[in-house]
Amino acid sequence: MSNEVKILVGTMTGTAELVADEIVDVLTEKGADPEILLMDDLDPTALSAGPLYIICTSTYGQGEVPDNARKFFDALESQAPDLTGVQYGVFALGDMTYMQTFCFGGRKFDDLLAKLGATRLGDRVEHDASSGDLPEDMAAEWAEGWFEQALEAA
Ligand SMILES: Cc1cc2nc3c(=O)[nH]c(=O)nc-3n(C[C@H](O)[C@H](O)[C@H](O)COP(=O)(O)O)c2cc1C
Repeated sequence: MSNEVKILVGTMTGTAELVADEIVDVLTEKGADPEILLMDDLDPTALSAGPLYIICTSTYGQGEVPDNARKFFDALESQAPDLTGVQYGVFALGDMTYMQTFCFGGRKFDDLLAKLGATRLGDRVEHDASSGDLPEDMAAEWAEGWFEQALEAA
C-alpha cells in the first residue's frame, strides 16, 4: 500500500482545514505522506486507486456540502466515474442544532463515493460543533486508529 494520504477539504469558515492540519501532524508521525487539497479546484480525476483519501468536510445551508466543494461534488455526481479501488475515510463536521441535516455534507460524499464503487475504510466520524468537543482533538484520535486500520487492511 502507498503511504500517500490525500485529505480533501470542504469548508466554509476554515474549521475543516484546521482539522486537516491536525490529521497531517498525526499521520506524518505515523510514517504516512499526507497532503491537504482544498476541494475548490478538484475534478473527479483527483480520485484514483493507490493513495488513501480522507474526505474532511463541513455542512452548510440545509444539509449541503460547503460552497468550495459544490463543483467537485456535482462533477462526481454527473460524470459518475468508476471509483472501484479508491479507498477513503470520512471526517464530517456538523452541528446537532441542525438535527434534520446533521453532517449531511460528509454523509453525501460518503454515499456518493460508495455508489461509485469506492470503499470506505473504518466508520464515518461525525463531529458535533454543539458538543463542546474540539474537532481537532476528535480528528487526531480518529486519524491514528484509522491509519492503523488501513495498514492492517492492506
Ligand atoms: C449557516 C450555517 C448552516 C449550517 N448548516 C448545517 C447543517 O445543515 N447541518 C449540520 O450538521 N451543520 C450545519 N452547520 C454547522 C457547520 O457545519 C459546523 O459549524 C462546522 O464545524 C463548520 O465547519 P467549517 O468552518 O469547516 O465550514 C451550519 C453552519 C452554518 C453557519
